[in-house]
Amino acid sequence: MNKIGIFFGTDTGTTRLIAKKMAKKLGDCCDKPLNVNRVSVADVLKYEALILGTPTYGHGLLPGKSTDIEAGSWEEFLPQLAAADLSGKRIALYGLGDQDKYADYFVDALFDLHSALHHAGAQLLGQWSTEGYTFKHSKALKDDHFLGLALDQTNQALLTDTRIDTWLDMIKAPLLDLSRLKHRSEKQRD
Ligand SMILES: Cc1cc2nc3c(=O)[nH]c(=O)nc-3n(C[C@H](O)[C@H](O)[C@H](O)COP(=O)(O)O)c2cc1C
Repeated sequence: MNKIGIFFGTDTGTTRLIAKKMAKKLGDCCDKPLNVNRVSVADVLKYEALILGTPTYGHGLLPGKSTDIEAGSWEEFLPQLAAADLSGKRIALYGLGDQDKYADYFVDALFDLHSALHHAGAQLLGQWSTEGYTFKHSKALKDDHFLGLALDQTNQALLTDTRIDTWLDMIKAPLLDLSRLKHRSEKQRD
């Protein structure tokens, strides 16, 4: 399916709100965002292009039963998803966190998503510069970049819209693999 699937985990709803914002900005090329606590692995595997979002809880953890989310979340769903063959999937991640109160664990959960999905064969896109953030430590860093878009609605809510716009502009074409599709349709015309 050449659409983007958006899936998220959440406790207090902020990561859902961001998912909806992204869906609105992306328009026709994506489907309605869904909470990972109410989908099956097959629902996710329908898509070749995915945006996956998570908050960080409990000092650096994925949300789930260990962090008191009764209905479960990424902690429970990620092992199921990562047991699938994700080769050929293009995935961009975003993470919610609080760089002030949790300065030693800022958006750490992005690391867990990234490493599990990478090991399952997915191609991860959408690394994001750390410029403009103030925190002490994050597991979710590679070469001075976050492993996905980092958002902080507690301390930097005013920056969120611009960050999302810039990030979506950056990832949309590679996520949908538009250059390959263009190449294919040019070949078909020849
Ligand atoms: C108990 C608790 C623990 C948290 N732990 C972290 C953390 O370790 N790292 C971080 O960056 N943010 C942490 N946060 C901040 C949340 O990730 C942030 O508020 C996020 O926007 C919540 O998303 P949600 O509304 O989708 O659940 C924590 C928040 C709470 C209430």
